[in-house]
Amino acid sequence: MHDPPRATPWTAIREGSGQSTLYHDLAEELDALLRGETDPVANAANTAAAIYHSLPDLNWVGFYFVRGQELVLGPFQGKPACVRIPLGKGGCGTAAAERRSVLVADVHAFPGHIACDSASNSEIVIPLVRNRRLLGVLDIDSPRLDRFAEPDRVGCEAIAALYIRSLDD
Ligand code: SME
Repeated sequence: MHDPPRATPWTAIREGSGQSTLYHDLAEELDALLRGETDPVANAANTAAAIYHSLPDLNWVGFYFVRGQELVLGPFQGKPACVRIPLGKGGCGTAAAERRSVLVADVHAFPGHIACDSASNSEIVIPLVRNRRLLGVLDIDSPRLDRFAEPDRVGCEAIAALYIRSLDD
């Protein structure tokens, strides 16, 4: 028996060249990795690892989950990181509090930035919202200044949507 066809959250990523192909391939890999598993920790761990090993110029990829008024560190790839971030603080706290993706071209110039890994120079943070409830954020850091642009926002939001959908499988 074949699985019934499912909507693919990565249809937002147009097949083409460069970044969009990378994200398209990553989404396909993740779809296969997460399929049939709903555990939020296991799926966050595999999502972080797949991103870390697929996209160029990254030094840290990981999850923070909402616990009360804070974000608490979840599965990640990279150097050990700060465990608790207040909602509203830095790139992660801002993405969580405002429920919007935050692209930071230069983390050193971002108000309230929490420097966990001194190698990080730019970041993208995607809020994880499931059934209107904020679960946490996906934080992706790069040693390269201004590493993330609009195609990365589209691609990373599609990746985050795959993670959220996996929890319902
Ligand atoms: N980048 C974050 C802190 C978490 S680490 O980079 C892993 C921030 O200030 O939002």
